[in-house]
Amino acid sequence: MDKQKVIPLSRAYSLLNPGVVVLVSVGDGLRDNLFAVTWNMPVESDPPMVAILSGKDHYSYPFIERTGEFGINILDASWVNSVYLSGTTSGHDMEDKFTHVGLHRCKAERIKAPLVEEAVASLECRVVRTMDFPESVLLVAEVVEAYACANHFAHGKWTFENDLKLLHHVSGPRFCVSERAIVVEDKEGA
Ligand SMILES: Cc1cc2nc3c(=O)[nH]c(=O)nc-3n(C[C@H](O)[C@H](O)[C@H](O)COP(=O)(O)O)c2cc1C
Repeated sequence: MDKQKVIPLSRAYSLLNPGVVVLVSVGDGLRDNLFAVTWNMPVESDPPMVAILSGKDHYSYPFIERTGEFGINILDASWVNSVYLSGTTSGHDMEDKFTHVGLHRCKAERIKAPLVEEAVASLECRVVRTMDFPESVLLVAEVVEAYACANHFAHGKWTFENDLKLLHHVSGPRFCVSERAIVVEDKEGA
């Protein structure tokens, strides 16, 4: 590899992007909302735990504080405009962000927050631990229910066989997609 270019430390996180961008849905039975989240990760597989980082000033955050619950929704790349709009507009300024971004809600099984009808996969999550930062909170949550389109997710993995394009956030309005699996020869038979 050529001599590495030194980048500003303030942009170091961008090297870990692009993870799959998700829409986090929240709700308390009376109102609901959703927002885009790139900073998300699995934490544990058994029990299944994930983490997301949420800004404290987001309209969505008090819902999570109050209910201890949220949904994670993965949309394919055809929904990039809705995803971007969900992350650049606030429930503070509108009645119904689902309608504003052209998405539909559907009922979750085990949490009050709705899920996104158009998602190729959704997780229902309950917060088990938090870590406070000046402007945001790291929310570690147990996954209590999970769904995925059988067309695209089989035997515990994304198949990429039916024109699936997963969406990843690069920076600002820039996204990229993953659309093809590559499989290495496994000589150890692991
Ligand atoms: C592609 C994208 C990714 C984002 N990722 C995050 C994130 O990981 N965590 C976060 O707190 N906000 C993130 N944001 C910002 C929120 O989605 C944004 O502030 C949103 O307007 C908050 O909505 P709300 O006020 O209706 O809750 C992201 C925005 C975009 C466009």
